[in-house]
Amino acid sequence: MKIMLTGANGQLGSEILEVLTQDGHEVIALTHDDLELSDLFRIKELIIEHLPQVLINTAAYHNVNECEKNPQKAYRINAEAPGFMARMCNYLHIKFIHFSTDYVFSGNLNRPYNEGDSPDPLNVYGLSKLKGENLIRSSSCKQLIIRISGIYGKNPCRAKKGLNFVKLMLDKASRGETIQVVDDQIVAPTPVSEIAATLPELIHKDVHGLLHISTSGECSWYDYAREIFAYTGIEANLIPGKSSDSAIKRPSYSVLDNRLMMSKGFGKMPSWKDALHKYLDEIKEPAY
Ligand SMILES: NC(=O)c1ccc[n+]([C@@H]2O[C@H](COP(=O)([O-])OP(=O)(O)OC[C@H]3O[C@@H](n4cnc5c(N)ncnc54)[C@H](OP(=O)(O)O)[C@@H]3O)[C@@H](O)[C@H]2O)c1
Repeated sequence: MKIMLTGANGQLGSEILEVLTQDGHEVIALTHDDLELSDLFRIKELIIEHLPQVLINTAAYHNVNECEKNPQKAYRINAEAPGFMARMCNYLHIKFIHFSTDYVFSGNLNRPYNEGDSPDPLNVYGLSKLKGENLIRSSSCKQLIIRISGIYGKNPCRAKKGLNFVKLMLDKASRGETIQVVDDQIVAPTPVSEIAATLPELIHKDVHGLLHISTSGECSWYDYAREIFAYTGIEANLIPGKSSDSAIKRPSYSVLDNRLMMSKGFGKMPSWKDALHKYLDEIKEPAY
């Protein structure tokens, strides 16, 4: 299939590019240099030039602190641009696959969020991503919106200065820093390899609607950091912190329920801990 992919050099996009190329698809891989999402005319131009069968949007303005300072930019990139892409897809009968976030939820539920739960975001990033979801839905295009959470991969997260949480922890420990990590935000960290691996089947089976993709189980960011150091045997001065120290509100509980995904015939997702161990084994040389 001919597939157009945005954010192709991002943490998630780069692994999707690899998987879809290996699966034999023709992928038009777009980086920020090829396409600035606030330029709706350029979006239109590229879609019409390539006429893909599937458009996958992984690009986003997702640094939570930056979004809070620049709400207009957040809405333009995370809502208006995907909304416009969806309208183009509807007009040209292109399937649209868009990535969203656990930050559309407040965390007040205290059990894994399923696809039927009502979103109630706490910050500009979450609000802008939710608005994007709603604009896509209202376009009536053939669509799949995938919510993911706490992602990490072999390639850097570009919005987080090239580090993911695991690499940040290893980096801080190697410098002998005291590492304070919040123990009052519960997540299910998920490697992008697990997400990217589902894409060929999601496309092949033409899965529609809204889908949560996540590892199983849950942990606080502090538990997650503790497991990184326990598994690698690295000595670190790790101490628990509280999210009330941060000015920006984040969900205290944003685990995504993955049962719908599994009911659609996808294999059982690994636990967050097994997935972390596998990732740490993979990056073992020369990172630590
Ligand atoms: N990271 C997480 O923990 C997390 C959690 C939940 C959901 N998500 C969602 O997952 C998706 C992928 O995240 P990621 O971790 O792969 O992010 P990433 O590594 O920062 O990659 C984002 C990509 O989007 C591009 N981009 C940013 N602003 C753009 C713009 N205005 N126009 C065009 N391209 C732009 C970036 O290019 P430049 O770097 O060159 O600007 C980069 O290629 C996003 O939709 C995000 O909302 C992420």
